Amino acid sequence: MKKNPVWKAVVFWLMATPVALGATPHVWAPTVTQAGRYLVLAGGCNDCHTPGWERSGGKLPWSQWLTGSPVGFQGPWGTTYAHNLRLLVQHVSERQWVAMFKYKTPLPAYPMRPPMPWVNYHQLSVRDLRAIYAFIKGLGPAGRPAPSYVPPGQTPKTPYIVFVPQQPKSVP
Ligand code: HEC
Repeated sequence: MKKNPVWKAVVFWLMATPVALGATPHVWAPTVTQAGRYLVLAGGCNDCHTPGWERSGGKLPWSQWLTGSPVGFQGPWGTTYAHNLRLLVQHVSERQWVAMFKYKTPLPAYPMRPPMPWVNYHQLSVRDLRAIYAFIKGLGPAGRPAPSYVPPGQTPKTPYIVFVPQQPKSVP
């Protein structure tokens, strides 16, 4: 019987392919940018740091992502504004970023006030924090800085949301 070289080539290809894929795992692994984008989305960063995110149903173009909120969050801590992260990463290094999130080391200009959910984000791994940083940096600078922090007892000049638990009046 005559040997069929085509058939042999197919068998060789089937056997060799998984080896080849195994040798080059980066073919399947998500890139740092994809991982960062995923973490930003799942971590809810846009909810506070991107104006109109919720109303848009998460459909805003990347050009508007994480450009900071003009609406303040008021509570016992005063009134805070979710920073423009596109500008922040231009002068905060990756090392400082990781120290803030992972090791709870605030920078003088960024004292880590509420309602940013730091307690949850301290759980992120260094690898994930680097991916988030790389993704935001990759988006490039955009927008203006968010309004400045207003201490407790002072009235902000912008719209703001008040975070004060309300007690329902007792029904007689
Ligand atoms: C519930 C709203 C909210 C969410 C969600 C949120 N942030 Fe913030 N973030 C804020 C506010 C408000 C500030 C300003 C805090 C301040 O003035 O100290 C802030 C500040 C920051 C700062 C600067 C540190 C500081 O204290 O000023 C960084 C960096 C940051 N956020 C990154 C992120 C990233 C990354 C995510 C998603 C993984 C995220 N934030 C999700 C509200 C939020």
